[in-house]
Amino acid sequence: MNRLENKVAIVTGGARGLGASTVRLMVAEGAKVVIGDILGAEGEALARELGDDVAFLHMDVTEQADWNAAIERAQVFGPLNVLVNNAAIVHMAALTETTDEDYLRVFRINQFGTFIGVRSVVEPMKAAGSGSIINISSIDGLHSAAGLSAYSSTKWAIRGLTKNAAIELGQYGIRVNSVHPGGMYTAMGGSQHASEEDLNKSTYTRFPIPRVGQPEEVAQVILFLATDEASYSTGAEFVADGGWFTGMRNPAMPCS
Ligand SMILES: NC(=O)c1ccc[n+]([C@@H]2O[C@H](COP(=O)([O-])OP(=O)(O)OC[C@H]3O[C@@H](n4cnc5c(N)ncnc54)[C@H](O)[C@@H]3O)[C@@H](O)[C@H]2O)c1
Repeated sequence: MNRLENKVAIVTGGARGLGASTVRLMVAEGAKVVIGDILGAEGEALARELGDDVAFLHMDVTEQADWNAAIERAQVFGPLNVLVNNAAIVHMAALTETTDEDYLRVFRINQFGTFIGVRSVVEPMKAAGSGSIINISSIDGLHSAAGLSAYSSTKWAIRGLTKNAAIELGQYGIRVNSVHPGGMYTAMGGSQHASEEDLNKSTYTRFPIPRVGQPEEVAQVILFLATDEASYSTGAEFVADGGWFTGMRNPAMPCS
């Protein structure tokens, strides 16, 4: 299939996890992709594996100069149509134990990095005639959880920025949407500390879909938003969370 034929994309945090799954899927659908990440070895290996339609760039999303370089590299492939703002970190600590440094570190990468990404692609996408910006928020940008004051704040902010940008940029043919994954089996989602089976038993038993998600399942939602099939969707929230946000099965109730 060629659902992304003639599309050029930048995927931040594309060296592993959800970003890498997104890159693989986009390339399989005909896109040319620039991976921007601070993980050099993983990013270069993925780009080598996927061939000439992929370039890896060492990129810190908090640096304007790195954004300029990523856009310049993307435009070697052609006009820039798609940006996936996926790079992020998580910091887990009680609110009272979250230091200024912790909070600002998470803010700079997740929130500020997404902001300068959106700002940086406006002129290139206007020049391309259209564009799709996909901001990766989280289930924690729809509700929150204990221990996630910094992370959850940034994921709510990404949702707000998405709506602002959708309103300002729709007139130029640029769509801006947010994606809200639930738990995914990636490094951030715990894959370095627990097996999938253990996670399913310990954390996911009461979920409507009672298992952790795979990054490929969320990448399919991102893919849809990147294609012209999503031509009338902007400023919207796309949830792929196994039903987490809907509610839990309560063992004390019938049908659980
Ligand atoms: N894993 C989950 O359970 C989960 C749930 C909800 C939302 N999300 C969101 O999905 C997205 C992808 O998460 P993941 O699970 O694949 O995490 P991950 O940690 O596997 O991947 C994140 C990537 O971002 C990169 N990155 C970090 N800081 C960067 C910087 N300053 N500049 C450039 N790249 C940087 C990392 O090197 C890494 O490759 C994130 O936005 C995350 O918040 C994840």
